[in-house]
Parts: sequence; C-alpha cells; structure tokens
Amino acid sequence: MQICRNKQAMRECRSEWRSTVQPVALVPTMGALHDGHLTLVARARDWLNERGGGKLITSIFVNPTQFGPNEDLDKYPRDEENDLRLLRAAGCDAVFMPSAEDVYRPGSQTIVEATALSRMLIGRLRPGHFRGMTTVVTKLFNITDCDAATFGEKDYQQLTIVRQMTADLDMPVDIIPVPTVRETDGLAMSSRNRRLSAQDRAAAPVLNRALDRAQELVEAGATLNALRHEIRKTLATEPRGDIQSIDIRDAADLSRINNITRPVVILLAVRFGDVLLIDQRVARPL
Ligand code: PAJ
Repeated sequence: MQICRNKQAMRECRSEWRSTVQPVALVPTMGALHDGHLTLVARARDWLNERGGGKLITSIFVNPTQFGPNEDLDKYPRDEENDLRLLRAAGCDAVFMPSAEDVYRPGSQTIVEATALSRMLIGRLRPGHFRGMTTVVTKLFNITDCDAATFGEKDYQQLTIVRQMTADLDMPVDIIPVPTVRETDGLAMSSRNRRLSAQDRAAAPVLNRALDRAQELVEAGATLNALRHEIRKTLATEPRGDIQSIDIRDAADLSRINNITRPVVILLAVRFGDVLLIDQRVARPL
C-alpha cells in the first residue's frame, strides 16, 4: 500500500497506474476509521472487481474548510496508525493523507457550492459546511483522477449534494451510495460516538428506533403530521437527547413535501451533551 502524504506524491502514484488503463475508485474520509468506512472501501473494491479490477485509493483528510469557527477542528479524532493498519488489511492500494497546507495554497479563492441544497437542513445548522465539503471533494476528485467514489447514505444530504455537483459540473465520477452501517443496538456508526458519555451512548439508539417506527408508519399510509408526532414521541422516551430537527423530505432532491406519495427521507438531528448525532431513513409508501 502506497502512502502519499502530499498532492505531488499522489499524482505521481496515479500517473504510474495510468498505463494500466484500469479504473480507480476513491473512498474520501476524514480518518478515525470504523466499520462504516471499511464498508465503503469494500463496496469500492466490488465496483472495481465488477469492471475487471482496478486501483483503490482512500483519502484521509480532516478538511478545515468544512468546520465552522465554533466547531472543534482540533478535537476531531485522529488515529493514523490504526487507520493505516485497517486500510492495509482491507486491501487498499494507496492512501492519500495530505496536510492542510499542502491541500490549500495561500491565496486560493475558488469554491464549489451547490447553492440551494447546501443551505438547507444541516446547512442551516452548519453554515459553510457543505461549501467546504464540495470544494474539497472536487479537489480530491481532481487530484486522484478517480472514476468512482463511495459515499455513505448516513450523510444523506452530503450524498445528495455530491450527486448534484457531479451532474451540474459534468464530473466523470460515478457516485456509489452505501447503506448506513450500524452497531448491534442500531446506533449508526460514527467517529463522534466515542465522545458520548456512557449514559448518552446507552440512550442514543433511540434515533434508530424512531426511524423504524417512522418507516412502519409511512408504509401504513400515515399523514405527515401523524408521522412527525410519532417520531417526536419516540425520541422523547430518551430525555437525554435534545431534538435539533426532524425533517421529512422528498428522497430524490430533499425538497419540501405536503403529503407522502413518493419515497421520502426522514432526517433526524439530536444532540447528546455536546455531540450532535444525525441519522436518516428512506421510506416508501406501499
Ligand atoms: P467522514 O465523516 O470521515 O465520512 C467518510 C464517509 O464515510 C462518508 O461518505 C460517510 O457518509 C461515510 N460513513 C460514515 N459513517 C458511516 C456509516 N455508519 N455507514 C455508512 N457510511 C458511513 O463525510 C466525510 O468524512 C467528509 O465530509 C468527506 C466526504 C471526507 C469530505 O471531507
């Protein structure tokens, strides 16, 4: 496994591969890897194998431009040694782990932003977050010259924005969605989970329970109001959780809906202490 610590090393590695004419798949991450990330790696490998093989790159970069001034970039967990061990075992061909100074030249001023999608929902809670995300993902696509990239459905708005961006800007990258990977008690895996207190960790699976209940109700033909009420009721069974938002949107483009006639996505954001947990579920009326 090659370790590329700057853009130049990554580009050199990439151009060596170019002669093999094999596709390249990228798994963009911020490190502190868990089984959710490793499922993205496995899915990227499957995608390559379906095309007769190819090269797999994982990027590890805690992107400063997607953190707000009050969000603790410095507190983001970092565990390089363990990440590299996991990626080696997963059969990754190269890891791109640049520094922030290498990625962002002084004086750079160009940004990439999906104007409407990036300002709604989580974009309202975290102004500038998605603009930083789309800018760095564009840079990662350009530096690695990848043919495909995997993104988790857990970050549903991120996935939707990346799809919009690649379509709008004619980026020749296949976006491969990966279903949310969960702990045995239903909590969606996240590097944030390790910051939960023991009591909050025990309470946090309530998000998944609320989503299970919501899915049942959508399939049974419930109204939007009944659905909202029932989600709130389920979440309230764990008073440690501070509900930040409950949104029910069109699953295709996150637009607002008045009734449930097409697949919807239910998006939850609940705060436990200073840890904001998000989770989502796509549900279809039967
Ligand atoms: P990060 O939070 O490290 O997540 C990397 C990828 O792993 C994302 O596509 C995310 O949706 C996916 N992922 C995380 N937890 C998951 C789970 N439990 N099940 C399935 N997939 C999961 O998202 C980012 O980094 C950054 O915004 C990034 C895209 C790397 C740009 O900086």
